[in-house]
Amino acid sequence: MEIFVVPTASATGSVAAGILAAVIRSKPDAVLGLATGGSPLPIYRALADHTVDMSAVRGFALDEYVGLPAGHPESYAEVVRREVTERLHLDPAKVTVPDGSAADPERAAADYDAAIAAAGGIDVQILGIGHNGHLAFNEPGSALDSRTRVEVLTERTREANARYFSAPSDVPARCITQGLGTIMEARHLLLVVNGADKAGILAAALNGPVTAECPASILQRHPHVTVVADEAAASQLAPGSGQVAVRVAGAAAVA
Ligand code: F6R
Repeated sequence: MEIFVVPTASATGSVAAGILAAVIRSKPDAVLGLATGGSPLPIYRALADHTVDMSAVRGFALDEYVGLPAGHPESYAEVVRREVTERLHLDPAKVTVPDGSAADPERAAADYDAAIAAAGGIDVQILGIGHNGHLAFNEPGSALDSRTRVEVLTERTREANARYFSAPSDVPARCITQGLGTIMEARHLLLVVNGADKAGILAAALNGPVTAECPASILQRHPHVTVVADEAAASQLAPGSGQVAVRVAGAAAVA
């Protein structure tokens, strides 16, 4: 695992975008796993400044709410369209989001896993982490080998995401999420984290036991993980523990 600690959230985006641009240059039809939420936005903004042809890049979103009307601005289909597909000039036909309005969401979830496999798997999976340790919408208690499925969101997650909706009660109760087992099949995991409010859970995920109670702790079992964190989010990481920390722009090293 390599950990880049950088001064600001904006810098997390620059570092992560540099990694993605290098991947796309060497594999123009790379398959990216696309996280939504606030953490990856600086990545997509920074990636847009790279002069790399992204027209052949393929993308699979991490998750989607179940039950929002088609075209709802906070559906992840719309967020991915605005923040990723349009910003980076991806081909919309090559970007897939779980179908949260499917008549049979469980079936849509199983089909999603099959679509990822048919694309040859994900080259780089972009990830954020929830305050409760969730990865995608795999809430605490999710099986470490879970597949893409329908999941019930915890109240903590719905509260965190209420900022995007006019009322907390508008946040859907269910979602389709890539499973932890699905995520672990990606060849490279790129976790981006910022803010002091994530410091405790990031330390628990990277330095604590691997347990379903902290789904993001599964990252410790993946052979190729890059963490890009700002100083505030990295402030509680334990020194040592076999991680390689990299100083960027004068930021504190984890070492
Ligand atoms: C988003 C996702 C979630 C978020 C997490 C952190 O697609 O799957 O796991 O990454 O909730 O959200 P932010 O970045 O908004 O703090």
